[in-house]
Amino acid sequence: MPIKKLNHVSIAVDDLDQALAFYRDVLGLELTRRVRLEDRQLDIAFLRVGETELELITPLSADNTVARFLERRGQGLHHICFEVDDVAAEMRTLSARGAEFVESEPHPGAVGLVSFIHPSSANGVLVEINQVLAGAEPAATHELSAPVDPGVV
Ligand code: CO
Repeated sequence: MPIKKLNHVSIAVDDLDQALAFYRDVLGLELTRRVRLEDRQLDIAFLRVGETELELITPLSADNTVARFLERRGQGLHHICFEVDDVAAEMRTLSARGAEFVESEPHPGAVGLVSFIHPSSANGVLVEINQVLAGAEPAATHELSAPVDPGVV
């Protein structure tokens, strides 16, 4: 089961409204949804880019992985997400080929079931794979709930 498409590209930003002033107002991308995740202390905006999306994420407090990412690296690319048909099966396939996953099981994310590949096996980029669930509302409810290695992000 190969990777089907690039589901989204995620960018960590200091301020969501300031970032939207560029990505929405200057580039003209359509803002499709905004989500505030109190449990993860994250504010998220999705913008449509043809068949894929751009995800802007910003922390609501200093105590989360995105805040630590911004502190260490500053604003920029946070992760990319590839869509597959079956995340659990793809995890087994990719693991057998050498991919190191952050967790052993997929979990619910903003775009269905998701799992993250550690940046150390992907040339420094955090890679998410997702499986869209049938009938699932694409609104984010648990985006970035993965315990991503705090040493990296
Ligand atoms: Co994502």
